[in-house]
Amino acid sequence: MPFTPNAELDLAFDAKLIPQSVIDELPDDLHIRPLSSSDHSRGHIQVLQALTTVPDPGAQAWSDRFRLIQTASPQTYYPIVILDKQKDTIVATGTVFMERKFIRNLGDCGHIEDIAVDKNVQGKGLGKRIIQALTGISDASGAYKTILDCSEDNQPFYVKCGYKYAGVEMAKYN
Ligand code: ACO
Repeated sequence: MPFTPNAELDLAFDAKLIPQSVIDELPDDLHIRPLSSSDHSRGHIQVLQALTTVPDPGAQAWSDRFRLIQTASPQTYYPIVILDKQKDTIVATGTVFMERKFIRNLGDCGHIEDIAVDKNVQGKGLGKRIIQALTGISDASGAYKTILDCSEDNQPFYVKCGYKYAGVEMAKYN
């Protein structure tokens, strides 16, 4: 399938929010953009499987979730993808969402979530580009800080991306 330009896609948010510096540093055969409404067929779920168990919900349920993210709370969810242009297939993804607070003079906090790079292209700098792009989006949205949870194994990766250790994650799973 040939590469589909941004203008022909229904994007989750304005592509101009992705920092130009990150776009400029990507190799010519890759493209970074917001998640689009047709990305279920470009391997979005398959890439996320590098992160955890991700059953495919099917095209319709995926599309319903995309629409909720795109419209339910504008200027809140920023999912991005990197594509292999030749195959028009997603090879990396991640999201930042903005939490609107009362503290810190009604401050905003960016939360980075669900970072995944296809196994075949890990170690080529794509994860770092995803984090730079999401941090840039969070900064441009006015966040006073951007945070994330990760395993100890991934801590050195985030340090390389400019993040530092800042506490302990707690969780209660159902
Ligand atoms: N330990 C030490 N250093 C690492 C690690 C690691 N686990 N991973 C990457 N690095 C280093 C690289 O060597 C590189 O260093 P350099 O800049 O000096 O050359 C730098 O970090 C950037 O690495 P990238 O090539 O950008 O890393 P990659 O594209 O492989 O992405 C990621 C890293 C996202 C962890 C990827 O391996 C992946 O998808 N893993 C499986 C899913 C996962 O664990 N996701 C993160 C969950 S946490 C969250 O979502 C908030």
